[in-house]
Amino acid sequence: MNFPDLSLTNSDNQWERFCQLLWFSDELGIWLDISRMNITASDFKALKNAYTEAFKSMKQLEQGSLANKDENRMVGHYWLRSPSLAPSDRLSNLIVDQIDQIEDFGKAILNGDIKTDEGNLFTDVIWIGIGGSGLGPMLIINSLKKDKIGLNFHFLDNIDPNGIKNKLDNIGKDIRNTLVVVVSKSGGTPEPKLCMEQSRKFIESQGHNWQSRAIAITMQDSNLDNLAKEEGWLKRFELPDWVGGRTSITSAVGLLPLSFIKTDIREFLKGANIMDKYTRLDDIYQNPAALLATSWFTAGKGKGLKDLVILPYSDSLEVFSRYLQQLIMESLGKKYNRSGILVNQGLAVYGNKGSTDQHAYVQQLRDGIDNFFATFIEVLSSENELPGINNQSPRDYLSGFLQGTRLALSESNRQNITITLKDFNALTLGALIALFERTVGLYAELIDINAYDQPGVEAGKKAAANILEIQNEIEELLSNKKEYRITEIISNLNIPLGESAFMIIRNIVFNNTDFQVNGNWNNPESLVIRKVN
Ligand code: PA5
Repeated sequence: MNFPDLSLTNSDNQWERFCQLLWFSDELGIWLDISRMNITASDFKALKNAYTEAFKSMKQLEQGSLANKDENRMVGHYWLRSPSLAPSDRLSNLIVDQIDQIEDFGKAILNGDIKTDEGNLFTDVIWIGIGGSGLGPMLIINSLKKDKIGLNFHFLDNIDPNGIKNKLDNIGKDIRNTLVVVVSKSGGTPEPKLCMEQSRKFIESQGHNWQSRAIAITMQDSNLDNLAKEEGWLKRFELPDWVGGRTSITSAVGLLPLSFIKTDIREFLKGANIMDKYTRLDDIYQNPAALLATSWFTAGKGKGLKDLVILPYSDSLEVFSRYLQQLIMESLGKKYNRSGILVNQGLAVYGNKGSTDQHAYVQQLRDGIDNFFATFIEVLSSENELPGINNQSPRDYLSGFLQGTRLALSESNRQNITITLKDFNALTLGALIALFERTVGLYAELIDINAYDQPGVEAGKKAAANILEIQNEIEELLSNKKEYRITEIISNLNIPLGESAFMIIRNIVFNNTDFQVNGNWNNPESLVIRKVN
């Protein structure tokens, strides 16, 4: 490995740095420029041994080691786009078969081989899933769906009753031609379960059949899988336990939406597969994920001290910042390292899109607190170009704004990275996702954390279940229609946190006229509650 003599970014050697550090793949039409990060040759050298170990671990991970030790699981999302790498023929065949099945199923839906009970074509789909089961599909639809091609998508990714009702009402009569895909790897997450039940009630209340339009994507033998089996749903796709939610976009979770919008799923997989080949290289300078991981590490001193701001100058990539936010923060935001030492690691990610954001938070990026580094994502050409009017072309302005902001940030010593895509399509989206997946994997190795579990999310699920249990107990206590002071409720039911009782009661009384409260909301201890009906 040769280390170029890189000194800190300055106007004297910036062109030289740019030429030395620029990474490009002709096959993908993707450039990566990290020359405006404050990285020196000694930063690369300092990480040399850590990288030797990181590449070794990534290799073992791809060979099927139990890389997610806390959950005793393999980490296999790389096999999804390169099935021959899977550690057994059974797994390779499972992946290949599923890709074929999804392709056939998508075609059958779109060409009418599979029709509604009334013999019509399906026109819409409700996609139910949260976190990794929702964001990938949302990214795919937002970025690749072309107007009037394929099914119309409606995402239910939350349990806000307003949101659910508005979305279902919006579908209205089209519900008769609507498929429902329920995605939950565990098959037990409350949010998709509630959304599924609400959708089902809505569909059945309009006189339509559920089973003949419902599709499940879940682990084998999960509650969701068993329900779909018992009831004979239209289709079930397996989500293997070795695919994590936030890295499931190249599994059925991302491929099914692609097939429903008539996009070539193999191009998407090919893009990811090509990028995987580059990101496996153990020469840091030739490996774009290692260049990115080194940038992240150096900027935040390996402790996430600087936030990552994602600035795609493209409407198609608007959801990408949210997608990366989950991929990176859920993977890297960990309390302990792999030896059990308290580290409170993480890397905060936010962003939306340019040039829109130049009229929002970019002001602070340029002139305010220097607690971030930016990643610009540029798309050079797109299917729809608009001719300039009065010599003013939107495309040139977009590029000018990106370049101007990039330079303006550097002038204020704000570090930044630029990723440029010649074209934006299924191939380059697949590649972009694979680039960040591997960057997260390598960075996690450098900081020695398990990027593949999510104890914080699990803890949140458990905490919510506890609250709902307390709510049931409160409602049961009040069912005898006697008056209770809030302090009595807290002590009778042994509620560990008074504020939980307060928040539950506040939620009940403002949503249910069966309950009445006297007292002063400003003085929680004065509240007296009674069930009246
Ligand atoms: O990335 C993850 O693992 C999470 O975001 C999950 O995808 C999310 O919690 C949903 O879980 P499930 O698919 O089991 O319903």
